[in-house]
Amino acid sequence: NIYPVILSGGYGTRLWPLSRAALPKQLLPLASEKTMLQETALRVAGRVELQPPLLVCGDEHRFLVAEQMREIGIKPIGILLEPEGRNTAPAVAAAAHFLLARDKEAVMLVLPADHVISDTDAFHAAIGRALEVALGQGALVTFGIEPTGAETGYGYIRRGTQVAGFDGCYAVERFVEKPDAATAQGFLDDGNYSWNSGMFLFEASRYLEELTRFQPRIAEQTAAAVSGRHGDLDFCRMDEAAFAACPSDSIDYAVMEHTRHAVVVPAALGWNDVGSWSALWEVQQGDENGNVLRGDVYTDNVQNSLVRAESRMVALIGVQDLIVVETDDAVLVAHKDQVQQVKKVVEHLKNSK
Ligand code: GDD
Ligand code: MG
Repeated sequence: NIYPVILSGGYGTRLWPLSRAALPKQLLPLASEKTMLQETALRVAGRVELQPPLLVCGDEHRFLVAEQMREIGIKPIGILLEPEGRNTAPAVAAAAHFLLARDKEAVMLVLPADHVISDTDAFHAAIGRALEVALGQGALVTFGIEPTGAETGYGYIRRGTQVAGFDGCYAVERFVEKPDAATAQGFLDDGNYSWNSGMFLFEASRYLEELTRFQPRIAEQTAAAVSGRHGDLDFCRMDEAAFAACPSDSIDYAVMEHTRHAVVVPAALGWNDVGSWSALWEVQQGDENGNVLRGDVYTDNVQNSLVRAESRMVALIGVQDLIVVETDDAVLVAHKDQVQQVKKVVEHLKNSK
């Protein structure tokens, strides 16, 4: 059985001031009328080959997450609650333990809750290929995205030879998480690199085996945090002390950079991880002036801008390439090329409290 495991624990700080700790980007309707979490769950819903999803999120978001699933008529097989964020390696490990307690042969399809995928058919075709090689070879499969720039916020995967007998599946020759700009440019010039999409498919038991090899503490502490837990409703709250003693690391650094069993399935999915306001502008269909406008917005001679008015009317005149996001208690005005710096505002706010 394949279980979608939806990771919904990030804070999306580059989408401030809309995305907040209390209401991070995956729980917001950013790219459509549904929230990104809802879009993610719907993308894997109603398919015979897939079980209902397992959600992993922070304890503080449990009611929002449960309510958002109820709204779209999806009943998760569980909502696994983290007392605090420990990054993705522990989140996936906890999910693996949770699933193995129910199904010794569980296969996990790990999905970040905050990605846009416009080609759902291609996505499911890629899952099919990934499943075969995961079961046939015990592979840890990642989905590779054709890179469009020397982004430093992604993992880079060098394709090796095709896995014999498995169409569209390639051995991972090298996995480098978040290289510096010069290295990323080198990978782009090389031509054999994909971006890591951050989505993975593997048998739960295989993931734990590899994790135990490279980061045994994470495997142990998450086992302790999940064991014997059932919880009320669909919630499964992990043991606070056990989880607090778990090292913090991402699946990319902890496992994917080191395992010799990684396989990449390159796929053209219309994928975007909506990591910034400019990415959100890009994935949405702008009007004839290239503007993406939401809420009570007036424009005169404005081009290629994203403007969101949440609580007041916003007017722009004679400007281009701007991001303007108005909320109740904060307003962001930024050049579209510099939106990566938005996370610094959030750091500034944290430090000044
Ligand atoms: N439950 C839970 N708990 N979810 C988490 C946690 C956590 O502690 N930390 C992160 N997540 C979720 C985020 O909400 C997001 O959906 C996903 O896991 C990935 O985390 P990010 O923090 O967004 O990772 P990243 O963007 O820096 O890098 C990853 O994604 C890139 C593609 O978007 C890596 O996998 C890169 O290699 C990849 O290129
Ligand atoms: Mg991300």
